[in-house]
Parts: sequence; structure tokens; C-alpha cells
Amino acid sequence: MEKVREILKAHVGRAYAPYSGFPVVALVEAEGEVFLGVNVENASFPLSQCAERNAVAAMVLAGKRRLERVHIYSPRGPIPPCGGCRQVLLEFGGPEAEVVMHGPEGYEVRSLGELLPLGFKL
Ligand code: THU
Repeated sequence: MEKVREILKAHVGRAYAPYSGFPVVALVEAEGEVFLGVNVENASFPLSQCAERNAVAAMVLAGKRRLERVHIYSPRGPIPPCGGCRQVLLEFGGPEAEVVMHGPEGYEVRSLGELLPLGFKL
């Protein structure tokens, strides 16, 4: 866990969050590999992308489809993923996937099923 926390903290400066001033880093563990994402905002605010979804996109591009765990880091303290990201994470993680919410001082763990008990499925 300490190695993951180092990676998260090392990448928080890569987030592009000039409008909110709220940088976020996500790290997805999938099939023995890790994938990073940061939030990328836009002057047209609704086009902004969350860190979690960018990490999932990197995972899919690498050919992975099953995530076991996602770590989310905010320098302001642990934050839960937004509702839309919970649905995207569920697509590839299922309810048993772990969500680790990190802040500078520590972290909290929940299952994705706890955070999104009634996710949409086709
Ligand atoms: N944000 C994320 O990247 N992930 C979340 O789960 C919550 C929110 C970003 C979006 C926006 O760039 C900033 O945090 C403030 O909402």
C-alpha cells in the first residue's frame, strides 16, 4: 500500500484542474498491472473528465477488462468516487471490487457494491 500511495502522490501534479482547483488521481489494479488517470477539466465545464474514468480508459486500451481494485487520491482528504464513476467502475469491477479512498494522512476501504448497491446492468 505504501508504494501505491507514493505513486498517487507523485502524480497529483499531473491533474489538470484549473477551474475547480481540485486535483484527483486514480490508480486501477487490473490483472497484475496498474493504470493511472487524473482529472482533466475543460473551459466548457461539462466536458471535464474524472480521474477514475481516465484510468479505466487506459486499462481498456491496454487490453484489460477486469479491475480488482481502484485507488483514488485527493490532497484534501479521502473522497468517494462520483456516482457516474461508480457506474463505470462497476462495468469492469463488479460489486466485489475494492475502492480505496486516499488522503495525505491515510485511507478508507469500501467495496464497490457498498458504494453502488443497485447499479444499472443490461
Ligand atoms: N473528480 C474526479 O476526478 N473524481 C471524482 O470521483 C470526483 C470528482 C474531479 C472532477 C472535477 O475535475 C473535480 O474533481 C471537481 O469536481
